[in-house]
Amino acid sequence: MPLAVAPGLLLLLLASGARGALVVSVPTSPVRAQPGSDLLLGCHFSVGGTMDMELLVVQWKVGDRLVAEFDSTPSYPRAGASLSLEGLRVGNASLLLPRVGGADAGLYTCMVIHSPSRESRQVELRVEAPPRVSVSGTVVRAGKHSPVTCSVSGFYPGSVNVTWLRDKQVLGGSETPPAQLGPDGLYSTTSTLQLVPSISDDDANHSCHVQHVALGEPIQEPFRLSVLSARPSLTLQTVVTPAGLGALQVRVSRYYPPNITVEWLRDRAILHSMESLPTREPDGSFTLRSSYILDRPEPDTRVAFTCHVQHPALPTPLAQSVTWKETDVISQDRTPNKGPEPSPTRVWMWLWLAMVSPLVVVLLCIGYWSFRISMSSIRVWECWPEGSVTALLCEAEGRLRDTDSLTWRSLRPGKELGAGQPGELNTLMPKLEQHHVVTWRRNLGLGRRRLTSVLTIQTPREDDTFICTFQGARGMKQRHITIPGMPAGGPLLDGDMAIF
Ligand SMILES: *[C@@H]1O[C@H](CO)[C@@H](O)[C@H](O)[C@H]1NC(C)=O
Repeated sequence: MPLAVAPGLLLLLLASGARGALVVSVPTSPVRAQPGSDLLLGCHFSVGGTMDMELLVVQWKVGDRLVAEFDSTPSYPRAGASLSLEGLRVGNASLLLPRVGGADAGLYTCMVIHSPSRESRQVELRVEAPPRVSVSGTVVRAGKHSPVTCSVSGFYPGSVNVTWLRDKQVLGGSETPPAQLGPDGLYSTTSTLQLVPSISDDDANHSCHVQHVALGEPIQEPFRLSVLSARPSLTLQTVVTPAGLGALQVRVSRYYPPNITVEWLRDRAILHSMESLPTREPDGSFTLRSSYILDRPEPDTRVAFTCHVQHPALPTPLAQSVTWKETDVISQDRTPNKGPEPSPTRVWMWLWLAMVSPLVVVLLCIGYWSFRISMSSIRVWECWPEGSVTALLCEAEGRLRDTDSLTWRSLRPGKELGAGQPGELNTLMPKLEQHHVVTWRRNLGLGRRRLTSVLTIQTPREDDTFICTFQGARGMKQRHITIPGMPAGGPLLDGDMAIF
């Protein structure tokens, strides 16, 4: 309070012992008060000698209007105003104004008469309260009409100037929205920015600027828009890969922001799916693909596979289901090196055969074939045209034992994948990079079995060699394949999904 200075000054003046000089002091202008507060407007005087209350008159005026007066008795035209009589005796003519309102603002004059001297000082009272500013409605939808509100409250007097800025550029003109007076004597108002946002607005620095007489500098309330995409869309399809696998694929298009959860479920069990890296659409939204490789025969043709998508733009998760149609591709035997089925035996034929030696040789070959373990070369399928998810299929067949296994290894230096659990159906490997191994076996008849293992990986950035090892009781076989790494800069934008 500027009042604090006044007593020191007063003491100094009293100590100076100046005679006959009436000195009046008031605080430095302007004095600011919040509406509704109690204010003590300081005024101190020294009569320069002995004070005689009979000779003393004190008048407080604002403009020409009398606020308080002491002339042998006090009177207060401004309701509630008061002077302290004890104070006056010691040169304290400070005016107490309870519950200051806008009408109290103005230029005050403290006049002291100690006959025959008179002296007055002026002090300006400003009744002001600076505004508080907050912005709401910043979560908006791309392409949808979205109002963003700047709330300005607790200010006095009731006039503010609001400007909206985007990256330091003024949006539209500034406005002086009409303000409402609250029960606390303070004003509040709002200004609304009408937007049809696009995803690029998400990166922009917005702010609401408020100018008010009680503020030295305008208030700048910065904010960022959280732009949600209109709504991601799902395109679901079932695919049969050239490697003979069934796959369920979904494309989740045009979502924003980039955080999204895509899950595949069979009944209620979560499946191990693979996601492509998201691609950026020209409008800034993202598109990603997720594949679940149906890497073993699905016995139940009625079972529904559901794709669940959770995203901030979706009030509830999106779910779409497909039923896997038995295409027979997985269950049918398609291996080219499959031998002929043996013909039914007839006694006469056995006799005939015993006599014909070339046919004995053929029989021996069949015998050899049924004991031989063959391993086909690794087949590759890139789940999506941009090739960000790749499935590798490795098979061995013959008279396999339960302990025979297929395992996978990767030959990128320093990043060797662990060996998969062999021989089990649906064995998941711990997530090491993003990959997934499933191995299963099928009976082919005549004691022959086929062991199949599918390794699904995120397509490597560098060339990667994958080795599939068959470990059997009677030996080991290996096949390997090198997958070319993706070009730098990630997957390319693709137009349409490839349907194999
Ligand atoms: C002057 O009087 C007021 C009461 O009217 C009091 O609150 C204030 O402290 C006094 N000032 C001094 C310096 O004594």
